[in-house]
Amino acid sequence: MYFPEEIIEEVRTRNDIVDVISGYVKLQKKGSNYFGLCPFHNEKSPSFSVSPQKQMYYCFGCGAGGNVLTFVMEYENYTFPEAMKVLAERAGVKLPEIEYSKEERARADKRSTLLEINKLAASYFYYQLHQPQGKIGYDYFRNRALSDETIRRFGLGFANKTSDDLYRYLKAKGYGDELLKDSGLVTMEERGTHDKFWNRVMFPIMDVNNRVIGFGGRVMGDGTPKYLNSPETMVFDKSRNLYGLNYARTSREKYMLACEGYMDVIAMHQAGFTNAVASLGTAFTTQHAALLKRYTDMVILTYDSDGAGVKAALRAIPILKTAGISTRVLNLKPYKDPDEFIKNLGADAFRERIEQAQNSFLFEIDVLKREYDLGDPEQKTRFQNAVARKLLEFPEALERDNYIRAVSEAQFLPYEDLKRLVNRLGLQLGDQPVKSPAPETDGQQKEVRRKKDKDDGIRRSQRLLLTWLIERPELFDKIKGIVGAEDFREPLYHQVAQMVFEGLEQGDLSPAGILNHFINDEEQYREVAGLFNASLKESLNNEEQKKAFSETVLRVRRHSLDEASRSAADIGQLQQIIKEQAALKTIRITID
Ligand code: UTP
Ligand code: MN
Repeated sequence: MYFPEEIIEEVRTRNDIVDVISGYVKLQKKGSNYFGLCPFHNEKSPSFSVSPQKQMYYCFGCGAGGNVLTFVMEYENYTFPEAMKVLAERAGVKLPEIEYSKEERARADKRSTLLEINKLAASYFYYQLHQPQGKIGYDYFRNRALSDETIRRFGLGFANKTSDDLYRYLKAKGYGDELLKDSGLVTMEERGTHDKFWNRVMFPIMDVNNRVIGFGGRVMGDGTPKYLNSPETMVFDKSRNLYGLNYARTSREKYMLACEGYMDVIAMHQAGFTNAVASLGTAFTTQHAALLKRYTDMVILTYDSDGAGVKAALRAIPILKTAGISTRVLNLKPYKDPDEFIKNLGADAFRERIEQAQNSFLFEIDVLKREYDLGDPEQKTRFQNAVARKLLEFPEALERDNYIRAVSEAQFLPYEDLKRLVNRLGLQLGDQPVKSPAPETDGQQKEVRRKKDKDDGIRRSQRLLLTWLIERPELFDKIKGIVGAEDFREPLYHQVAQMVFEGLEQGDLSPAGILNHFINDEEQYREVAGLFNASLKESLNNEEQKKAFSETVLRVRRHSLDEASRSAADIGQLQQIIKEQAALKTIRITID
C-alpha cells in the first residue's frame, strides 16, 4: 500500500465525515444521524445517511456506503492517493514524502505523471497559438467567433506544422520516451518519432476536476480526419468523460445540453449556455449517462440535424431513459449544429428552441413517420400500427394513456381510435403464451431455495447484531460470553466480526477504520459497509426492539451451534455442543 496505515487512519479521523459530506450534500439531522439526497443515485426523498458516531455514510436506496475517504473517491472520481492528498491538506496533516528515484516514481505514480505531461502540452499548445507560427490557428478561432476570453477559458491551442516540436519540448523537460509514448501525444515508429498532433487547433479535454486527460485536434483546412483525438491512455477513457462537464457541472440549470462537437460545446458556453457537454468523438454510452445522472435528471439533446445526428439521438434516448434521465430533443433546423444556429440566430432564439424542445418519445414517433408514405392508405395503416405498438412500451396504464393523448394530438389521430388500437394490440400480444420460468416441481430445487432464504435470514441477523453493537457499544457487556466472533462463520463476516469484537474488547472500536481494510476490493467494501448499516430505524428505543435484540443474539448463536454440530469431529465435541445448545435455551438478555 502507498501510505502507512497510521497515516491513513490519521487522515481519516481528522476529517469529520459530517463536515466533509456537508460540503457536497445538504444534510439534515434526524435522531443521531444525518440524512440527505443520495449523490450516487437519483432520488426524491432522502435515503442517504451519515453517521457521526460510525463516521460512515450509507445509502439505503442504492447501497453506496463507506467512510470519508471513499466518499471523496467516489464523488470526485479520485484515486485513493488523490483522496488522501486532498483530505490531508484539508485537515493539515502532513503526508510523508515518498523518496523514489525518477524511474521508480514514474512507475509508482504514472497516472499523475501523465496528467503532468498533458498539462504541460496544453500550455505549450496555448502558447503556440499566440505566437506568429500559431496565427493561422488563432485566426481560425476568431473567424469562428470565439472571444479571447473563451479561448482562455477552454485552454484552446495550436499544434505547429513542425512534426516533432512538442516531443522535443517534453524531452527537454526530462520525460522519457516510454512515458511520452504512453501519453498518446507522440507516435514512435521505425520512420522516427513524431507528434501525434500537428497543424491542428487543439482542444484540451478536461475531467470534472479540471485535469487535462486528453486532446482533440481539428485540422487546418480540409485534411482528414477532420478531428483527431488522443488514444485511450491510463488517464483517458472516452466512454467515461464528457467534454465541458467540468464547467457544466457547476451551472445552475436543472438540465444539461448534450451535443456532438467540441465547437458546439464552446459556442453554447460562450452564448451563456454553460450546461452543454459533448461525448468525445464516440457514441453516447451508458457510462456517459451514469455520469450525467450525478448532476441532472433531464438532458436536452442538441445533436446535428442531419441523418447522422438523428441516428445518434435515437441511440442515446433509450440509454438515457434506462439511466432514469428524461430526455428532450431540440430542433436546430434550418441549421446543422448548435454552433451554426447560435452564430446565425443568436442566444435568444436558441433559448426559445430549448423551451420548445420535444419529448423524446414524440421525437421518435416523428422519425418513425418518415419511413412511411402517408399518402398511401396501406402504409398509413402500418404506421398507425407501429405507433400503437411503440405505445405499448409504457407498462403503466396512466402513463401510456398520457402518451396516447399526446401522440394523437401530434399526429392528428383520433384519440379514441388510437386508444382502441393500442388496447387491441396489447391484448393480442398478451394472448400469446408468455414465457414463464420453469415451474419448481423439483423438490431438490425447493430445498435449495429454502436453504438460501434461511442463509439470508441468518446473515441479516448477523448484520443487525454488528450494527447494533457499533451503534451501542455498551451492549457488548450484555452479550459477552454468549456470542462472539467465532459465531460468524462465513469468512468475510468472520473477519469483520473479529475486528468488531476486538475493538469492543479494547474500547477502541472504529467501524470506519475497519472498513479501510477492505478498500482495495470494491465488492467486499460494499458488503462490509452494509454489515454496519443493517437497520434504518432508530435502534433499540422501544420494548419491541429490545426484544428483537435479544432474539437476534440468540439466533446468531443458535445457528452457529447448529453448524458446529454438523461438523463436530467426535462424540465428545458433539456432547459439548448439545450442552451449550441446552444452556442457550435458558439465557435471557435484558437491556434497558
Ligand atoms: P462534425 O463533423 O459535425 O464536426 O463532427 P463539427 O463539430 O461541426 O466541426 P466543425 O464545426 O466543422 O469544426 C462532430 C464531432 O464528431 C467528432 C468530433 O468530436 C466532432 O466535434 N469527429 C468528427 C471526430 O472525432 N472525427 C472526425 O473526423 C469528425
Ligand atoms: Mn460544426
